[in-house]
Amino acid sequence: QKLEMELDSIEKGGYPHFMLKEIFEQPRSILDSMRGRLELEAGHLNMGGIRAYEQKFINAQRIIIVACGTSWHAGLVAEYLIEDLARIPVEVEYASEFRYRNPIITERDIVIAISQSGETADTLAAIELAKSKGATIFGVCNVVGSSIARATDAGAYTHAGPEIGVASTKAFTAQVTVLTLLAMIMGQKRGTITDTKLRELMVELETIPAKVTKALELDAQIQEIAEEFKDATNFLYLGRGYNFPVALEGALKLKEISYIHAEGYPAAEMKHGPIALIDENMPMVVIATRDSSYEKVVSNIQEVKARKGRIIAIVSEGDTVIPAMAEYVIEVPHTSEVLMPLVSVVPLQLLSYHIAVLRGCNVDQPRNLAKSVTVE
Ligand code: G6P
Repeated sequence: QKLEMELDSIEKGGYPHFMLKEIFEQPRSILDSMRGRLELEAGHLNMGGIRAYEQKFINAQRIIIVACGTSWHAGLVAEYLIEDLARIPVEVEYASEFRYRNPIITERDIVIAISQSGETADTLAAIELAKSKGATIFGVCNVVGSSIARATDAGAYTHAGPEIGVASTKAFTAQVTVLTLLAMIMGQKRGTITDTKLRELMVELETIPAKVTKALELDAQIQEIAEEFKDATNFLYLGRGYNFPVALEGALKLKEISYIHAEGYPAAEMKHGPIALIDENMPMVVIATRDSSYEKVVSNIQEVKARKGRIIAIVSEGDTVIPAMAEYVIEVPHTSEVLMPLVSVVPLQLLSYHIAVLRGCNVDQPRNLAKSVTVE
């Protein structure tokens, strides 16, 4: 019994749960996902997987991303990245919808399939369909040699290492890292990003592991916030631009492991529905880091406050405006808005983790969920 407990604790690296261990591994897993790809000193970006398909990528008329769950959220971040940096139209599809929709796919399309496990049945079926129509399939998988990795024409592995917790954390940030590099490389090859901008992003990307480390230092503060909100029955998450997919991911994390109903929304859509839900019992997590939609998100916070909603705001370090409006303020290191999801998602992972623990939930193996869904 004692030995078993000790073995268990060794496996978890001294952390009480795999999920917490994996959250804390992110500085490392992000770095591992950039290694050999971002060479700052030489000023190079490399991705072996696209070499043979370089012309296809350069001339792609459209990129279709297929994925499920958290990987689908990484796909949404990639939509912003690729359209922004490489100027190729992107569609992000739930693999399960795409495969049964008789979608329009041509040989000039590139399909990017994102999957941690590489075994998700719907994603695999979406790939087979796109392949049969002649599209080029690029995989972003974590598990080497997995079914999806084998079914794709080319790909780039995320090097997150094994992810045991059912709720995906380090796989998500590794996916976003790889997709960021891919978008930067495509932008460079297509000439849609200036050398100066590219260089700036490369320098900034290099600092992300250290910024994630700083975000992890917020753990104790987030635990206190979790105490305050552990009995809530609903949560809303708001974000805009690059932080919109982060809001969806934050809400999904909370649902998955704490069984609290949560919804993520693009901040500006609040007035088309969710605003009706706001009262003094409704916690709202607002991601309001300093970026191009900052002012607009600040107005959303004011609207929530006027209706007595309880605000937990994720802000950039040094923000002086939002602390006067929000009940709780979580300050994350500032970075380029393009890279912000890699940092802003971290406090949301920790918040859901601590709430789930305080509610006595089985964090690593939540009820009814599976780590990889190999059936329809
Ligand atoms: C399951 C897991 C999620 C995961 C999703 C997609 O629902 O519980 O954490 O995001 O499948 O899995 P994949 O392995 O394809 O990324």
